[in-house]
Amino acid sequence: MTEDIKKGLLGIVVDETEVSKVMPEINSLTYRGYAAQDLCAKCKFEEVAYLILNGELPSEKQLKNFEKVERKERNLSKTLLESIKNFPKKSHPMDVARTAVSIMGLEDKETKDNSPEANLRKVMRIFAKTPVALAAFYRIRKGKKIIKPKNNLTFSENFFYMCFGKVPEKEIVKAFDVSLILYAEHSFNVSTFTARTITSSLSDIHGAITGAIASLKGPLHGGANEEVMHMMNKIKKPENALNWINNALDQKTVVMGFGHRVYKSGDSRVPTMREYFSKVAKVKKDKKFEKIYDIVEKVMIERKNIHPNVDYPTGPTYHLMGFDTDFFTPIFVISRITGWSAHILEQHAANKLIRPLASYKGNSYRKVVPINQR
Ligand code: CMC
Repeated sequence: MTEDIKKGLLGIVVDETEVSKVMPEINSLTYRGYAAQDLCAKCKFEEVAYLILNGELPSEKQLKNFEKVERKERNLSKTLLESIKNFPKKSHPMDVARTAVSIMGLEDKETKDNSPEANLRKVMRIFAKTPVALAAFYRIRKGKKIIKPKNNLTFSENFFYMCFGKVPEKEIVKAFDVSLILYAEHSFNVSTFTARTITSSLSDIHGAITGAIASLKGPLHGGANEEVMHMMNKIKKPENALNWINNALDQKTVVMGFGHRVYKSGDSRVPTMREYFSKVAKVKKDKKFEKIYDIVEKVMIERKNIHPNVDYPTGPTYHLMGFDTDFFTPIFVISRITGWSAHILEQHAANKLIRPLASYKGNSYRKVVPINQR
């Protein structure tokens, strides 16, 4: 009997969620009912992080308290800091993020406690410490002195400060904040599903986030923002873009930063990120990548009817901000910790072990021949 196989779980609804949805009626990604672009226009990242984790936008008092906790947790244990100093300098920062969260799990006194209250406390620690761990590695591998976090800076400002030693222009900080808002959550994507699958065995939140980071690393998921930059670097200048993309399509290359499992006629996050990419390019007085961007996008739509996803504009935006290319996906991590955590809490609240079936196509039954007779 041939079973009906849904490879890649294509089109399969496996559970319910209240965290986010792409709403077709407004053609937009929404978090807890709010359109992501509306949140970008009216909120800072911390408000959206609060919304995703707690279900409602914070009052001024609630936000102040949330920020107070996040800022208080911005420190690394001696063991974690020493470990990061000893990581191979050539490690991919995604592996650094994964290992750092795993070490946090070794150290956290509440690792075993899966109550919602304990999980929220652990989320705040992971959320606050992961950027600090990444920024420390950013400095260490360049042979520079680690910069301690500053408690009077916002989440985004502090990340720039810890990486570069200064807070950039407000337009740059806002563009970064917007990218974090757009990256924060996207329903049952592969890393979130990984986190929920790990949680479904009643494992702990550090393990679920560690697994989610490994899943996000792949180029078909979060790793695409780095691949976009590698592609733009290969293209080098706008004059080369048309030939490059036409050749790539002739050779049936998968062009990174394009296509999406859910959006088939355009990712609703792209127009917002495209606008902020342009603002950053203006501040940096560098329009080269915007020109390459437009040419590649036009050909992809004309020849394949495939539209860009959010990784397409974030790649060159982070490059213009001064980040090393292999830090683009780790930036995605520091934001997506919020979405993953909300799903982990949701999974714990109404858990069912995730255990699909497979259609077996291996050998039929056979007897074991002892080793001396094989
Ligand atoms: N470049 C060229 N062709 C493409 C692309 C692309 N980026 N995306 C899809 N196609 C083609 C694909 O070759 C296939 O053609 P055919 O039917 O002739 O074999 C058709 O479109 C359907 O593609 P698919 O891979 O079956 O679609 P999917 O829903 O399984 O894949 C995807 C979605 C995101 C994996 C895929 O579009 C892709 O590999 N994109 C490039 C990687 C990327 O940008 N990933 C980031 C995703 S969004 C942000 C995130 O989640 O992190």
